[in-house]
Amino acid sequence: MNNVAIFETHFANWFKTSNAFAFWKGRVAMYAILKACGVKDGDEVILPGYTCVMDVNPIKYLGAKPVYVDIEPSTFNMNPALLESKITPKTKIIVAQHTYGYPCDMDAIMAIAAKRDITVIEDCCLSFGSTYKGKTVGTFGKAAYFSFQWNKPFTTGLGGMAITNDADLAEKVKGLCDSDLCMPSAKEVAMIAAQLSVYRMFIYPRTTALAQNIFRYLTKKGAVVGSSSTAEYNPQMAADFFKGMSSIQARSGLRQLAKVESNIAHRRQMAELYDTLLEQKGWPTRQYDKSVMDPVMVRYPVRIKEKAKALEEAAAAGVELGSWFECPLHPIETPMEVYDYKLGMCPEAEKASQEVVNLPLHPRVSEKTVRKTVNFITGFTKVS
Ligand SMILES: Cc1ncc(COP(=O)(O)O)c(C=O)c1O
Repeated sequence: MNNVAIFETHFANWFKTSNAFAFWKGRVAMYAILKACGVKDGDEVILPGYTCVMDVNPIKYLGAKPVYVDIEPSTFNMNPALLESKITPKTKIIVAQHTYGYPCDMDAIMAIAAKRDITVIEDCCLSFGSTYKGKTVGTFGKAAYFSFQWNKPFTTGLGGMAITNDADLAEKVKGLCDSDLCMPSAKEVAMIAAQLSVYRMFIYPRTTALAQNIFRYLTKKGAVVGSSSTAEYNPQMAADFFKGMSSIQARSGLRQLAKVESNIAHRRQMAELYDTLLEQKGWPTRQYDKSVMDPVMVRYPVRIKEKAKALEEAAAAGVELGSWFECPLHPIETPMEVYDYKLGMCPEAEKASQEVVNLPLHPRVSEKTVRKTVNFITGFTKVS
């Protein structure tokens, strides 16, 4: 078996599912699932209005309409109380996105979907290992997809995976891959290999902001394979969009998967430390129902009043601060009207976009980093 097939098998085994398909990016995995589910012109796909625009593009590529549901302010996930009113006879799919690692209210979403005979798929791009009522997210819906971009739960540089237990759907995804999937060019593979080495050297809490700026600059110059180019902030599908995973990404994925348990344990431990330190300073901590969910956070979200100022000062202070999501369809460059989003549609998501910064939890974050980050962020004004 080649590296990609081995990675797919190990990944499927981790989730105890029967099928996994590796792709160039998470958005490609989502596209494959939607297409295999038969999403077509005129259909509607429901998703939270607090997401990455790369999650909306595959819907538009298939001629379908994205329909946005506002979020619950505590978990940043789709508010199930608002979901039913968005369903129409054209609704084909509900995308349950587990934001920052918090599981969605899967009982409520699955019940609404079952009543109306609508397919649920899970966006696990920000969530690896979280559980809801003891069951791992990614195993509730008909299929789920993951991202391995550099700031996700674990990274293969760029990368994505689709998983499903549904034999018929798996057959369709396989058919699509057999007929349409292109492979990364030799130049893209060489760039990914170089980038993976750079990530290994530079993605430390003190240097991430600098590395990120260099990468953005090099992406614009076409010198590295960026996770998103400006051209992707529009709903036109590129000819080489439907792309598979390279062997080098799969090899990195296998290495990451082999140590994912310690990655998960570390994330839990550091998130608890953030809880403790923030609480000591009288700041709000994570709010979720502990009797129902056990989140593995990708980043730790905090609401502050001076988001722009904090982001501006973080790099100079040697603090790694994340800005997602900057607007309901991240990033801020997104022309939202072409994606059927009108300002005011999701007030809680719009408020969160103005207030939320996120704190690092990746394996290179130490207790010292957490203390330093908390000291920095509590220098701003909390939103209670
Ligand atoms: C919630 C969410 N879904 C999907 C994606 C797309 O993942 P990828 O960049 O691997 O295509 C992202 C990307 O950042 C994301 O944040």
